[in-house]
Amino acid sequence: MCGIFGYVGTRTAEPLLLEGLRTLEYRGYDSAGIYVPEYGAVKAVGPIDALAAKLTEPVPGTSGIAHTRWATHGEPTEANAHPHQDMSGGVWLVHNGIVENYQELRDGLKMQGVSFTSETDTEVLVKLIGTLYKGDIADAVTNALAQVRGAYGLAVMSPREPDRIVVARMGSPIVLGLGTDGNFVASDPSALLAHTKDVIYLDDGELAVITADSHAVRTISTAEQREKRPERIEWDVEAMKKDGFAHYMEKEIFEAPQVIENTLRGRLITEKGRAKLGGMESVLDELSRLNRLQLVGCGSAYYASEVGRYWLEEYAGLPVEVELASEYRYKRNLPDTKSALLAVSQSGETADTRACIQKAKEHDLTTLGVVNAVGSTIARETDAGVYNHAGPEIAVASTKAFISQLTVFALLTLLIGRSRDMTQADGQAIARALEELPGVLQSVLKQAPKLQQVAERYADYRDTIFIGRKFHTPIAHEGALKLKEVAYIHAEGYAGGELKHGPIAMLDEQFPVIAMAPQDDVYEKMVSNIAEVKARKAPVLAFVSEGDTEVAQLVDDVIELPRVHPLVQPIVSTVPLHLLAYYVGIAKGYDVDKPRNLAKSVTVE
Ligand code: M6R
Repeated sequence: MCGIFGYVGTRTAEPLLLEGLRTLEYRGYDSAGIYVPEYGAVKAVGPIDALAAKLTEPVPGTSGIAHTRWATHGEPTEANAHPHQDMSGGVWLVHNGIVENYQELRDGLKMQGVSFTSETDTEVLVKLIGTLYKGDIADAVTNALAQVRGAYGLAVMSPREPDRIVVARMGSPIVLGLGTDGNFVASDPSALLAHTKDVIYLDDGELAVITADSHAVRTISTAEQREKRPERIEWDVEAMKKDGFAHYMEKEIFEAPQVIENTLRGRLITEKGRAKLGGMESVLDELSRLNRLQLVGCGSAYYASEVGRYWLEEYAGLPVEVELASEYRYKRNLPDTKSALLAVSQSGETADTRACIQKAKEHDLTTLGVVNAVGSTIARETDAGVYNHAGPEIAVASTKAFISQLTVFALLTLLIGRSRDMTQADGQAIARALEELPGVLQSVLKQAPKLQQVAERYADYRDTIFIGRKFHTPIAHEGALKLKEVAYIHAEGYAGGELKHGPIAMLDEQFPVIAMAPQDDVYEKMVSNIAEVKARKAPVLAFVSEGDTEVAQLVDDVIELPRVHPLVQPIVSTVPLHLLAYYVGIAKGYDVDKPRNLAKSVTVE
């Protein structure tokens, strides 16, 4: 999704701005631009390199703002790229989000003689600020925002005040970075890591003015000063590098063992068969008395929640509902004060998931979060929660974060289960299985070369279905989502038992099926489903338990996976599915880290 970076200080701004944009590339974008008051604006469609290529002469100036745009209103063109300017070039702005009443504002501005050169809602915003600018850019922004409905994270400059950047936030993240030789602003804290770890997260409805050596935060509506203490980012800039891997996606899949260790660190009390989650301490009593838990998320976070539902119901005896966040936010909620809402989000910024939290609060429900990005909006807006500790995830396709979400659900299952009907022995078995998981995943990753060979054979098919049962149904969905995202293959996830209710009609020699068939309590059912598929001559790739011969006789390709406790089996099965999607994507020559049309965090509806 769009990215913002800005700097004001004593260093030359242009290389910092370009570098800042490069760190935001992973979020997905289609055009980029910078504005340096002493030089002007430069924009380009396509990669940051195209923008850099236009900057052939030295750019003077020690302040500026920059943007990567992911098209929403209007196509990816130079005219639509940010920064945008007002009529006189006296105000420049970069903006993430959507101005909902832009048509109304545009009509009003047109009546005042303002003309427009782009199709963007952002141009309306900057031109509105321009009409209100009387020499203090912070005041002009404040007055303009009083008329705006919608979501924004924005940064504004004027050539008349080149030593100030004004930023504001409503629904789209803005973080200030406090440096030693200047101050920074970004829409994503990872862009600040190369310069500082001391950050201030703006909250919705706040505006800040930064200069080389100061920052001041106030509310937009009442101009009340806010004293905000800087927070320290724990992530290291090294975590943002590829470490010799060809792609971030590959690196992040191979990080799985380390990710599990980090997610589990200090959270298992194996001898007692319990889990300890500091961020949940304040709601422990409530969790033990819940009637039900509602889980919401989007994409992979939704599928992780589906796995969480199976586990929480099966092992913890807690009734659970799972909803796509984009649906939950608009559906009628039947009041139930003895339930709580748990939002799952890697980025902690997903607009639909955030909206669910607001809605749950309106119904007086306790809100909980499972979030990877420390300090993100969902982490701050929920009453309690758990951090994934997976480290920064750069590839658009979520892999290590998904694995860590499952691990957090395993911990939650222990935590909640032991306060309900889970026995100590059952708790110990799960805790031990989790402890052994990093080593197990190391052995799974050794199968990467074999998976690559298989992937190359499956790369030319146009369609495929992933099937699984019970815990592996959401894993089938996750496998299909990854293949769609990075290999652009039409893939669907199905519960194996559903095949004969429709999709089996599509199967033939050209329509492969990928079957998740570990030897769990639905294994025999799965074997029957695979037999049904083979009877239609569809090629089958099956993921089975080590030493399985029954499925191997039926199918075309087989990948054996270690036998583990059934609760952790879906985690073991996910890693090879992620590798499969990765290898198919690269076999087809795609940019797997930045799939077309996708953004890393979806901060607009
Ligand atoms: O940041 P979030 O976890 O809230 O993001 C949710 C989805 O947008 C995300 O999982 C998306 O589906 C990924 N591209 C999946 O690989």
